[in-house]
Amino acid sequence: MNLTLKIWRQDGPEDRGAMHEYQVKGISEESSFLEMLDVLNEELFARGEEPIAFDSDCREGICGQCGIVINGIAHGPEVTTTCQLHMRTFHDGDTITIEPWRAEAFPVIKDLVVNRSALDRIIQAGGYISVNTGAAPDAHATPVPKQDADRAFEAAACIGCGACVAACPNASAMLFTSAKVTHLQLLPQGKPENYKRVVNMLNQMDEEGFGSCTNIGECAAVCPKQIPLDVISTLNRQLGKAALKGV
Ligand code: SF4
Ligand code: FES
Repeated sequence: MNLTLKIWRQDGPEDRGAMHEYQVKGISEESSFLEMLDVLNEELFARGEEPIAFDSDCREGICGQCGIVINGIAHGPEVTTTCQLHMRTFHDGDTITIEPWRAEAFPVIKDLVVNRSALDRIIQAGGYISVNTGAAPDAHATPVPKQDADRAFEAAACIGCGACVAACPNASAMLFTSAKVTHLQLLPQGKPENYKRVVNMLNQMDEEGFGSCTNIGECAAVCPKQIPLDVISTLNRQLGKAALKGV
């Protein structure tokens, strides 16, 4: 495939940045989107031009490191991570726009790379969970109802990629924060500090400059791990209970 790429280039957080146009030729439809960018970068490097900065690590949809807005959609036209998006999704002759996550809480470091450490600080604000030290407990010593285990596991699938924030018109991190809260709230180990955790994580979310949730649902529509929108209801219920308990 021969493609025209319009890519956001930005030298650093203070640079204004702009779209730049590039042509790539002979791209296999079997290659991944990031491999297509690798091909472009090799050409730029050979020409003595600066390669395009973008994030990736596992390239297997696990780490959440890759994140690019492709044709206006976080992670592109398929509900998957950018690294798992393949060029067969596109057509010969297409023009593709490629931009970084856009949110106040995710400042651009360079080109397509943003600083997502605000998400780490939300998790950090959640604090510890109570686990007794000593000998390993017997298997099944702490029974967990199957439906709670399934829902906790579903919420734990969040990889912290930040696509939910990038897709939300309010740049809210509610889907991310709610996934973390739901995961721990349902398990016995997460219950003792539950209300404190909810309040602290939400306060940190506000402090980082993320917006509020207005139930638009764009977050769940792009989430590569299909975190369901109703985890936000779980968080809101826990927040209400925390208020009643004066936490
Ligand atoms: S909730 Fe989904 S979109 Fe948001 S950070 Fe987690 S995996 Fe990514
Ligand atoms: S590079 Fe790890 S999820 Fe894409």
